[in-house]
Amino acid sequence: MVDSRLFKPMRIGNLEIQHRIVMPGVSRMRATVDHVPTDMMMEYYTQRAAVPGTLIIAEANILSAEHSGYTNAPGIWKPEQITAWKKITDAVHQRGCFMFMQVMAMGRMADPSEAEKEGFTIVGASAIPFMEGATVPQVMTVEDIKRTIGQFHQAAKNAMSAGFDGIELLAGNGMLVEQFLQDVTNHRNDEYGGSVENRSRFAVEALQAMVDAVGPKRVAVRLSPWSQFLGMGMEDPVPQYCDLVSKVDQMDLAYLHVIESRVKGGDDVVSSDKLDFVHQRWNGPVLVAGGYNGDLARKLLDEDYPARDFAVSFGRHFIANPDLVFRIKENLPLNHPYDRNYFYTHETKGYLDYPFTKKYLATVKN
Ligand SMILES: Cc1cc2nc3c(=O)[nH]c(=O)nc-3n(C[C@H](O)[C@H](O)[C@H](O)COP(=O)(O)O)c2cc1C
Repeated sequence: MVDSRLFKPMRIGNLEIQHRIVMPGVSRMRATVDHVPTDMMMEYYTQRAAVPGTLIIAEANILSAEHSGYTNAPGIWKPEQITAWKKITDAVHQRGCFMFMQVMAMGRMADPSEAEKEGFTIVGASAIPFMEGATVPQVMTVEDIKRTIGQFHQAAKNAMSAGFDGIELLAGNGMLVEQFLQDVTNHRNDEYGGSVENRSRFAVEALQAMVDAVGPKRVAVRLSPWSQFLGMGMEDPVPQYCDLVSKVDQMDLAYLHVIESRVKGGDDVVSSDKLDFVHQRWNGPVLVAGGYNGDLARKLLDEDYPARDFAVSFGRHFIANPDLVFRIKENLPLNHPYDRNYFYTHETKGYLDYPFTKKYLATVKN
């Protein structure tokens, strides 16, 4: 494993990551009810910065008060959030690792009780609920869209103030930007809907606003073209994502992060749909996620795409293995299966108590 390209450095924006095992955004709901990161989160991310040179992407952060939606998810619009994240990014940097922050607007997926408590309206590209009986989102006006794009610009600046190395736009996994991208959730007939090009517009403008704020090398985007998570899944995503990826490719971003069809959110599903059409239209660094283990990741980099700048994200394995990078490098078993019962609870159990291997601990002591 040590000889695999998995353990060769790679350039991400202005950073030089030391290996290609990345921790993607994994929401764990351990922030305060006011969306401020906690000391528990600092400990969690510090644990996962076990091997120097690792790129960690902080879990999805709420964009703004009006685009909130989950209680205990962190946010990036208030000074106290920026201050709390700065402590975490400092700790991760101190261990020689790098940290991007993921940002999301939830759109129709916002929790109605959270909307009531915080006094915001649940919005979407169109008035289409994510399932029967769910809240019908209010259709965003062009003014709403422009204001939201301004918030993405500000979020990128705030992420820099919080010490992050970059910011990744969550344009997948059923969140608002994806709700604009896909025809199952976007029935608009203005400049933000009605055609492939128009459905891409919100994502492109949000990314451009972030680039204008902090420069392209600090901006990235995450897509899940095949995912049917949270009621998504267009009949044929290929033309839509070809359009978007081709446009974003021109922006010279830090990386494109794409999710394989074999996962739906954080669950495995059976699918053989491929991401080749994305890879063909993207010239920069790529992170790929979804159902990987060490062997599959090695094969992707060494055999399938030996000439490309690819890295692999491990979601669930990173939850359960703080020393995941070390374990894969040393061919050690991942013998601590993740416990779903604690994915989204607000306690240290199932969060801070996954053990390191003795072999890793010995290297730290020496
Ligand atoms: C508990 C949990 C929380 C997640 N939260 C996020 C998130 O905040 N943002 C995101 O883009 N994906 C999120 N995901 C998806 C993961 O980033 C990843 O794409 C997925 O788990 C597939 O990778 P894996 O097979 O290595 O786990 C989450 C997954 C899990 C299991």
